[in-house]
Amino acid sequence: MNIVRGQIVSFRDDPMVAGEENCLQHWSKGAIVVDEFGKIAWRGDFSNLPNAYANLEETDYGDKLILPGFIDAHLHFPQYRMLAAYATDLLDWLNRYTFIEEQRYGDKAIADAAAKMFVDELFRHGITSCLAFSTIHTGAADALFEEASRRNMSLITGRTMMDRNAPSGLRDSAEKSYDETRELIGKWTGKSRLGYAISPRFAVTSTEEQLELAGALVKEYPDLWMQTHLSENHGEIAAVARDFPWSKDYTDVYDRYGLLREKSYFAHGIHLNDRELARLSDSGSAIVHCPTSNNFLGSGHFKCREVRNGDNPVKTGIGSDIGGGTSYSTLATLRDAFTVSQLVGARISPYEAFYMSTLGNARVLYLDSEIGSIDVGKYADLVVLDPCATPLMAARHELSSGLSDILFALMIMGDDRAIVETYVAGKRVKTAIV
Ligand code: GUN
Ligand code: ZN
Repeated sequence: MNIVRGQIVSFRDDPMVAGEENCLQHWSKGAIVVDEFGKIAWRGDFSNLPNAYANLEETDYGDKLILPGFIDAHLHFPQYRMLAAYATDLLDWLNRYTFIEEQRYGDKAIADAAAKMFVDELFRHGITSCLAFSTIHTGAADALFEEASRRNMSLITGRTMMDRNAPSGLRDSAEKSYDETRELIGKWTGKSRLGYAISPRFAVTSTEEQLELAGALVKEYPDLWMQTHLSENHGEIAAVARDFPWSKDYTDVYDRYGLLREKSYFAHGIHLNDRELARLSDSGSAIVHCPTSNNFLGSGHFKCREVRNGDNPVKTGIGSDIGGGTSYSTLATLRDAFTVSQLVGARISPYEAFYMSTLGNARVLYLDSEIGSIDVGKYADLVVLDPCATPLMAARHELSSGLSDILFALMIMGDDRAIVETYVAGKRVKTAIV
């Protein structure tokens, strides 16, 4: 057992529900006791530390902030290095770069090396858990599961299903995708801290037959996650309307195959109409907001507050969408989320932003019994942040007028330099990369 000391900031509820005053727990001289299983045995003000823990080895981060590790609710493992691909829009970007890069993952050795780089990069950025896409290759999904298991990381992924509108090296068949998904579910469900996501890429790259089998999988495995993409780009929406002429709209395509449900995750969801929002809301589905990607690909502005709190409130997570996204940094993701919220006229608060990437994402992903806040019984997945990481940030810090302002400056000015340390299940994983 050991102790981690510092300024603890952890949410107990959604600021939009509990209010800005009551949404968080904050101990400026806090302590976290980590047990031998990597879980939190005690946390609170250091001055109240029970005697039983008094002689444990401790690491003291002083005034630096200790938050729950960031959770990234949408990104692509096989795109780990293909950031900054210069394209006109989503479909151009997919065809010209992404589908070429992803074909390499048929080679297990390439997937293994990439998985290590990918997880290293997540940890370097304070991200301790994610819901990630892989490729159609079972070996690529295996590679990421193996790496996450080796690092004792909470991670959800699955083999991508796509059987059309892609190069042959990145196409399967409906039946093969179904069979191999079932095999992988059998192999990985319940292992370590892993979860399986049934993963039809999006309606453009799946035939009706494949979407039907994705729906069959979702029915067979109601406890598993389902991830796909929805309503990101106008060209994509037009392609779906062409390919599924019977559909009312894009969401209706997924609905037809039973893919709308709790534990279903739809990345982007920018251009949805009221009917679509109502169906997503009623079914308990979630949208994942990917602001740096939406900006980079010129996809559009997601109305985060309106979707989360409008007439048809839809559960909303947040993710980097690497490699459409421009940074692994959750701080950068939150910066773009804020900027976009300004552009659409409904500003999100610093607490809302940090809530979304910690407890908010944990709740949306149904992982909040294990992660998302610094509470007894949860894993000690933590990120230590330095608000004075650069000379300019230190100077800005002198102007800071309270915790909300400190967090705001971090998300607007911060990047990987602000990540002092990352803990996964109580072990340092940033400075002690394995
Ligand atoms: N839609 C289908 N595939 C992808 C992808 O890889 N990235 C993004 N941003 N959108 C997608
Ligand atoms: Zn994506």
